Amino acid sequence: MAGGPGAQPTRRDFGEPFPDHLAIIMDGNGRWARRRGWMRVRGHQEGIDSVRQITTECARLGVQSLTLYAFSVENWKRPRKEISFLMKLLADFLVAERPTLAKNDIRLRAIGRVEDLPAAALAELRETERLTANNGGMVLRLALSYGSRTELADAARALAADVERGALAKEAIDEETLRAYLYDPTTPDPDLVIRTAGELRLSNFLLWQASYSELYVAECGWPEFREPQLHEAIRSYTARVRKFGGLIEDLPPLSQGRSASGGA
Ligand code: FPP
Repeated sequence: MAGGPGAQPTRRDFGEPFPDHLAIIMDGNGRWARRRGWMRVRGHQEGIDSVRQITTECARLGVQSLTLYAFSVENWKRPRKEISFLMKLLADFLVAERPTLAKNDIRLRAIGRVEDLPAAALAELRETERLTANNGGMVLRLALSYGSRTELADAARALAADVERGALAKEAIDEETLRAYLYDPTTPDPDLVIRTAGELRLSNFLLWQASYSELYVAECGWPEFREPQLHEAIRSYTARVRKFGGLIEDLPPLSQGRSASGGA
């Protein structure tokens, strides 16, 4: 790393390819707290500090797009008290982070069935989207009441309605047409999907967009995922070879265990 011991790495220090779009499944808040004998919600509380640190660090490094899985459609099945806590945390976060978003030129957007959020959280979300709409730096997308299958079902319904009223020809439908009906068609495909807490699943997150994303699993819970862990994930990505289904000459033999060297 340039800049001597203790200096923060720059984007150049990581080399190429650098992940322009990072998407993160923030898992393990509850386990992190329970392991310390605390209530699960304390893990969510602590997770907010990780959200702040990872967001500002990504912006500093020049990541263009960061998508955080903050609340899934399945999360509505959790106990009412935990849901209320999370929704209050979300509303408070959206207010408290406005200066940080402004300072770092970050635009906030949301994907998901956001109209299902409680009115107070939805109002703060809309206001933060409005206040940051002209920021030209990184886009921070919060996936809220989000699920890929719901996203695809919602897209299919809207698309079918347009076909029915003659605004779209059935024959014209291709992959890009379908993308235009997703919650935020400007969402780039993630280069790297990170999941914390050691789980090896995508859990209904960006299934369309992550078709060719690289995956990285951190063993620590989300509250412990901070700058050093982020840097490690980026370094892991930079060391990979992406094929997008094509062929690349001179791949190392399988025995060396390089990632992204499988059949696809
Ligand atoms: C998974 O941990 C995490 C969530 C369901 C919510 C993530 C929310 C936060 C990090 C805080 C709120 C975020 C924002 C942006 C306001 P878990 O509870 O499933 O943990 P477990 O698997 O150990 O039970």
